[in-house]
Amino acid sequence: MTIVEACESKTNTTPEFPMGWYSVARSHELLVGEVKAVQAFDREMVLYRTRSGVPVLQDAYCPHLGAHLGVQGRVIGESIRCPFHGWRYGTDGKCEHIPYSDDIPERARLRTWHCEEKNGEVYIWFHPENTAPQWQLPDLPELGDPNWTNPRYTEFLVPAHVQDIAENSCDPVHFEFVHKMMDTPPSEVTIDDDGRTLHLNSDATNADFPAHLHATVYNPGFAMVRNTYGPGAEMVMYNSAQPINRHETRMRWTLTVSRSIEDLAGDDVMEGIISGLNDDYPIWANKVHKQKPIFCKEDKTLVLFRKWVRQFYLTSNDKREIA
Ligand code: FES
Ligand SMILES: [Fe+2]
Repeated sequence: MTIVEACESKTNTTPEFPMGWYSVARSHELLVGEVKAVQAFDREMVLYRTRSGVPVLQDAYCPHLGAHLGVQGRVIGESIRCPFHGWRYGTDGKCEHIPYSDDIPERARLRTWHCEEKNGEVYIWFHPENTAPQWQLPDLPELGDPNWTNPRYTEFLVPAHVQDIAENSCDPVHFEFVHKMMDTPPSEVTIDDDGRTLHLNSDATNADFPAHLHATVYNPGFAMVRNTYGPGAEMVMYNSAQPINRHETRMRWTLTVSRSIEDLAGDDVMEGIISGLNDDYPIWANKVHKQKPIFCKEDKTLVLFRKWVRQFYLTSNDKREIA
């Protein structure tokens, strides 16, 4: 008897989460003393800014009786107070105060995630074992440069795994079929000597705004796209992702154009980029993740992407219980 393989579904083939830097908020959305509930990496987390201004990201459930610290938790100086019985946790996660007891159990601690603020965003270094960052956040020098416009922000909730969204950056053929370019732009994918930073260079001469596109991908879900329309005429788009779970990803885009094209074409090129996401959306929202795609000979850049992306996952041999 032949057993027919189970049909792939959106829920049974998606991978875990790749290590790397991801955003969890814009800086201006997290005021001093503010407490937020955050969903990321299939976990409930609490994000708050202490009185001295430090952003802190911790697992949300109080070790005492499980209240969610992101819902009615309160910042007290450099700590967060649980809304249920008032236990307070420091920025290192240790319980430092129980209002009705001098005895603080050793195991009363919250898992604390490495968090950094830069480029107007609050980032988490995500690693499945919660280890220290293995590389630094990149600098995004156009932000704050007077030769570039003030950044424009936009964000989207995409019902797809972060790896599948990132895969677009190595998929020049979809520019023709999904983004309605006249042809597939000649493209090259390269990887820096560090083995980690990936570049796509594409000549989109048959687009609405003909451009040279250069995407730099720092890790799946964290990329910079630079479109050059002519000498000194450029647009830069930063994309940072917040994987919510295996099927949903929040993408935060930050766009800026060089001042030289601000008045003539600034809005048009930025709106063109933003509306491009509407083209991708129905594909992402309905596709499954293919663990073992069938590639043809010409799919070289996609094959390269799949090899590159492996380094961001732990293999089953090096998995341990999370610290
Ligand atoms: S559940 Fe948090 S203090 Fe009791
Ligand atoms: Fe796309």
